[in-house]
Amino acid sequence: MALKITVIGTGYLGATHAAAMAELGFDVLGLDVVPEKIELLSQGRVPMYEPGLEELLRKHVAGIEGSSGRLRFTTSWEELGAFGDVHFVCVNTPQKHGEYACDMSYVDAAFASLAPVAREGSLVVGKSTVPVGSAARLSEVLPEGVELAWNPEFLREGFAVQDTLHPDRLVVGVASERAEKLLREVYATPIAEGSPLVVTDFPTAELVKTSANSFLATKISFINAMAEVCEAAGGDVVKLAEAIGYDERIGAKFLRAGIGFGGGCLPKDIRAFMARAGELGADQALTFLREVDSINMRRRGHMVELAREALGGGSFLGKRVAVLGATFKPDSDDVRDSPALNVAGQIHLQGGQVTVYDPKGMANARQVFPTLGYAESALDAVRGADVVLHLTEWREFRELNPAELGAAVGSAVILDGRNALDPVRWREAGWTYRAMGRPV
Ligand code: UGA
Repeated sequence: MALKITVIGTGYLGATHAAAMAELGFDVLGLDVVPEKIELLSQGRVPMYEPGLEELLRKHVAGIEGSSGRLRFTTSWEELGAFGDVHFVCVNTPQKHGEYACDMSYVDAAFASLAPVAREGSLVVGKSTVPVGSAARLSEVLPEGVELAWNPEFLREGFAVQDTLHPDRLVVGVASERAEKLLREVYATPIAEGSPLVVTDFPTAELVKTSANSFLATKISFINAMAEVCEAAGGDVVKLAEAIGYDERIGAKFLRAGIGFGGGCLPKDIRAFMARAGELGADQALTFLREVDSINMRRRGHMVELAREALGGGSFLGKRVAVLGATFKPDSDDVRDSPALNVAGQIHLQGGQVTVYDPKGMANARQVFPTLGYAESALDAVRGADVVLHLTEWREFRELNPAELGAAVGSAVILDGRNALDPVRWREAGWTYRAMGRPV
């Protein structure tokens, strides 16, 4: 009989994983402790913007016309325990308030609720990003006969469906052959076709995730450090990235210089990793991540200073600043630790009159920063602006007509915080275009 799958937590990770498991032919039950989320998902609606996810859900959510009916949602732990052979834990692990360490309370609560209801013989699979050592500790919480495996997730927001159905690799940390066998059964589906499966122990599986994100963060901060040097020396970081990226050992990806990384993962993951290394007495090994973090945070301040310079130096008081982009990256509505919103907020707090437009992130941005000005379109945002900041590289912004915008602004100066616009197009339309790490 086919395995029955449950997914605990229905954020980006959980909702996508649940839909993907149903797509692969499993009967799936998703659980969340927030009833409103369950209500939405049960109608085939997604509480966030993630390309392709709503379509995939609607293909499988029970009760939707023409669906496979393989996917249901609940708030009941009893129902979940009785249903599942394999339970995937997908709750989030945000940064603790005022600390580097991550907040494990959602994971701990999920295990505490799951432990009494999980059937004997079932397998619990952790997917959340956790400090190394967590799996060993959490396996103690589970009753005899219920096993644990750790199977970190590498999906990117904006590509969640694609990354889940076609992962670069699958990593499973196990403590027994039985757990490995069960997980191989789950992944012995098209999902694993062409994806290498790395079987290892708990600590290695946990570390793979945090070290992968640390590497990505380091790569971005490296190119941003080069951008700083390029600015000092009159070099062009975009050409530099292109040229070093041709070396296959370096690779061209994740070498886009700009205002740096944000979101719910990279920033908090490198901090939690440093905190955990400290606890383990290995803090020296990760001191470089402190530098990675500080190069990254410096980018935001640098953009604020470029804006000040563009306005003639001095105070932002009375200046109109248009900000294109609020999300931490395009194709997402996520504004968690968003560099764009941070820059907008800094200028606003220094007296600038900031107007933000983002294709999908407006509702979330308004919630986080209600005192900023918001416009319904890029054109409306730039109307009368003294300077325009391009801070999230949505396709919509690349396709803007610089001449049309130029007629609406007060002063045609654009600062490209993502090195994503075509300087020639903007300059030809009469704009002063300035990017980060490129000659003026
Ligand atoms: C990241 C990882 O890429 C995923 O592999 C991982 O699974 C995920 O975290 C997670 O831990 O759950 P994500 O946060 O969705 O995914 O976003 P990324 O695509 O990694 O981008 C992160 C930030 O880096 C964005 O703010 C982006 O604008 C910035 N970035 C990215 C750059 O500034 N330059 C680049 O060259 C690439």
